Amino acid sequence: MINCALGMSKPFDIELERLTDPAAYSEGRSTATGQRGTFFLETFGCQMNDHDSEKVAGLLLSRGYQQVETPEAASMILYNTCSIREKAAQKVFSRLGEFREKQSEGKVIGVLGCVAQQEGEDIFKRAPWVSLVCGSASYSKLPEMLAQLEAGNSRVTGLDTDTDDTFETPVTRRDNPWRAYLTIIEGCDKACSYCVVPFTRGPERSRASDSILKEVRQLAELGYSEVQLLGQTVNSYADPTSRRMRFSELLLAVAEVEGIRRVRFTTSHPSEFTPDIVEAIEREPKVCDHVHLPVQSGSSRVLRAMQRTYSREEYLEKIAMIRGAKRPIGITTDIIVGFPGETEAEFEETLSLLDEVQYDSMFSFKYSPRPNTPSLSMSDSISEEEKGRRLAALQDKQREIQALKHARMVGERFEVLVSGKSRRENQWTGYTTSHRMINFTSQERELLGTYVQVKVTGATPNGSVGEHVE
Ligand code: 5AD
Ligand code: SF4
Repeated sequence: MINCALGMSKPFDIELERLTDPAAYSEGRSTATGQRGTFFLETFGCQMNDHDSEKVAGLLLSRGYQQVETPEAASMILYNTCSIREKAAQKVFSRLGEFREKQSEGKVIGVLGCVAQQEGEDIFKRAPWVSLVCGSASYSKLPEMLAQLEAGNSRVTGLDTDTDDTFETPVTRRDNPWRAYLTIIEGCDKACSYCVVPFTRGPERSRASDSILKEVRQLAELGYSEVQLLGQTVNSYADPTSRRMRFSELLLAVAEVEGIRRVRFTTSHPSEFTPDIVEAIEREPKVCDHVHLPVQSGSSRVLRAMQRTYSREEYLEKIAMIRGAKRPIGITTDIIVGFPGETEAEFEETLSLLDEVQYDSMFSFKYSPRPNTPSLSMSDSISEEEKGRRLAALQDKQREIQALKHARMVGERFEVLVSGKSRRENQWTGYTTSHRMINFTSQERELLGTYVQVKVTGATPNGSVGEHVE
């Protein structure tokens, strides 16, 4: 399961140069950029959705559409949606409500992703001005669906989840110029009782290892130095080719590609987190020393009710294995509070797990009942007020843990990939290999996309501050 991340907005694309030169690209009926109108694409949710949107944008560009910055300027408005928690899904419908009048202006409005899959054709009832509803497991059929829209069809759907397909496009319009996302496994075969993903994204499908490595080589040639391998359960990767590459072998093979300096991966499921992954991190410094290992709860009883397939003790064994690595590995997690029936004592087990593991950071959520999930019908729901109290207590504890960790970093040196420049002069932001963010000062004029050494000089409640050193 993957968490929300803020994307960046500067495009840097495989093959985009060809697309912006109308004479240089032609595919099917599309011969030049801009001939088919314009699209606006807004993304909600996780990194996987961000990356799906990069591929959808690439697909549209290759068909001759042009991307625009506002819905007003677009002839087609697309929302790539998230339904992991109720709030996220509501946001999509309120956005659709804003566009009631736009349909009369002749705009095509489409809903992609998890809400599309979850609500299906009901979207047409709730928002009759929508013309395209397409779940993520049907993205490979998007070209056909677009052709139907272009032919004047006013209602087109792609809602099949019973598929072996993975979504591969010849063109990907990447938003981040340094870190390239790459989905290696789609869908999820787990059945966590609170989670919509197996329903909205369908069963697990792994991409062929040779196709992944070919894309990594292309990315390196384009100047990307960091790749992030994505999957809801990335470490369940099962190479469908005769090479049968294990996930840990794939990590090492990606790291071997010339030009690649950092290989990240997210999200790992504890049950499949095997010693060979730790060995790959130990052996190859390019494989980043960061593992995102969602625990969800510190209580074995709650974990059973969540159908997480491990107990507190088994999870802690995985943590011990990671902590035993020859180089320190940062560990982050996801936690849900207020799962149906979670007692105060069980919640306290989650608090004590934080003390025991000492996570580097945590994403935490109030349990949100979701359609089509087994836990929807579980009794003993916890009041919103109580969920709020537990969430605040959890976050207070994690804040204390992180404050201590940040304080301990003062005086240490780290290599960071510089990924942001502040409006304040000489202020930059970079990420360490273990994905710690450091805000630092440098007198250099241009550092974006480079790797520099930073000495940590201080700690703030949210992170570290430092200065560029030689
Ligand atoms: N309610 C609250 N949080 C949820 N997550 C997934 N489903 C739900 C839900 N129904 C959280 C999990 C997951 C993260 C991405 O979102 O912690 O790891
Ligand atoms: Fe992650 Fe479980 Fe949801 Fe799969 S079902 S995406 S493992 S939380």
